[in-house]
Amino acid sequence: MREIKLGDSRELLKEVETESIQCCYFDPPFNSNRNYFISTADSEEKIGFEDKFKDDEYVNLIEPMIVEIKRALKSDGSFFFHISASSLLVPLMLCQKHFLRTQIITWKRSRSKNNVKTKLGACVDMIIWCSKTKKPKFNMVYQPLDEYYAKNSYKNKDSRGNYALGHIVYTHSQKTKNKNRLYSITHNGKTYSPLAGWRMSKKDLEHLISEDRIHFPSKAGANPYKKIYKHESLGKPCTDLWDDIHSISQGSEKRQYPTQKPVKLLERIIEMSTDEGDIVLDPVAGSGTTGVAAEKMKRGYILFDKNPESVKICNKRTSQGGQNGF
Ligand SMILES: C[S@@+](CC[C@H](N)C(=O)[O-])C[C@H]1O[C@@H](n2cnc3c(N)ncnc32)[C@H](O)[C@@H]1O
Repeated sequence: MREIKLGDSRELLKEVETESIQCCYFDPPFNSNRNYFISTADSEEKIGFEDKFKDDEYVNLIEPMIVEIKRALKSDGSFFFHISASSLLVPLMLCQKHFLRTQIITWKRSRSKNNVKTKLGACVDMIIWCSKTKKPKFNMVYQPLDEYYAKNSYKNKDSRGNYALGHIVYTHSQKTKNKNRLYSITHNGKTYSPLAGWRMSKKDLEHLISEDRIHFPSKAGANPYKKIYKHESLGKPCTDLWDDIHSISQGSEKRQYPTQKPVKLLERIIEMSTDEGDIVLDPVAGSGTTGVAAEKMKRGYILFDKNPESVKICNKRTSQGGQNGF
């Protein structure tokens, strides 16, 4: 499914099939009380959109779209609402009203600014990750190891190389309800029977022991750990602070639309919330960054925007070029 449509999403969203969408990225105007227009080398006209609303106009634009998006989302689907830190309040209230679970991701989009004299430089946006259930589809994503983590975590060494310690035993407050995880193992004459249970099955643990991938402590009473080798590490499990993806003005991507987001940002969102073949929706697509990332990652996509210039750019940036009559 690859679809790009011109129109008002308050209407177009009604046509999207119920529970067909795995991930929806939503980066609407921020209610910033300004207009965004740029001139590009390819066009003599100014390209962009207005972001000025009166009283309830903003909620009246956003809330009907959220209701339709929720209907179109699969039960384990994810909705990502991208907003500036200063405009967070209303979107967060709406997301908490309509979804069961929300988590705020902070995206550090730019470095500090030298031209701000009377307040602190704004360098983050917020992305509210919402789902209808407590356990939406989720694939772990990774961030590069930061220097501090790399230096302090991989302190142990064996013949394979340096390794960090991964927990394989539950703490008292997390005590498992699974009786199969309450077992004992004996290694070099010492028996380990953690009272709160193991985080893995006995079979998996015995396999890791046979491969010398379990760290047994020398201190009496201490727990064993899984060895996490530095050379095998994918990075650090992603946190809710995304400070490793640069805005397009600092990176190598060409800006074709004001407020255009980096493809890497959409790649992370799509990777963590979908699998190949799933469908990603962006009802305020702008320059179509969501479609570019979805196509790269073999996902289907549906893009809407009410601005004809935006639809032209979406077509140009994706393989849809020229197929939608623009
Ligand atoms: C912040 S931009 C999106 C930028 C996009 N994420 C990108 O990477 O290029 C917001 C877009 O919402 C569109 N928009 C605003 N209201 C809309 C509506 N009712 N229906 C469809 N699109 C709308 C604007 O035309 C604008 O292109």
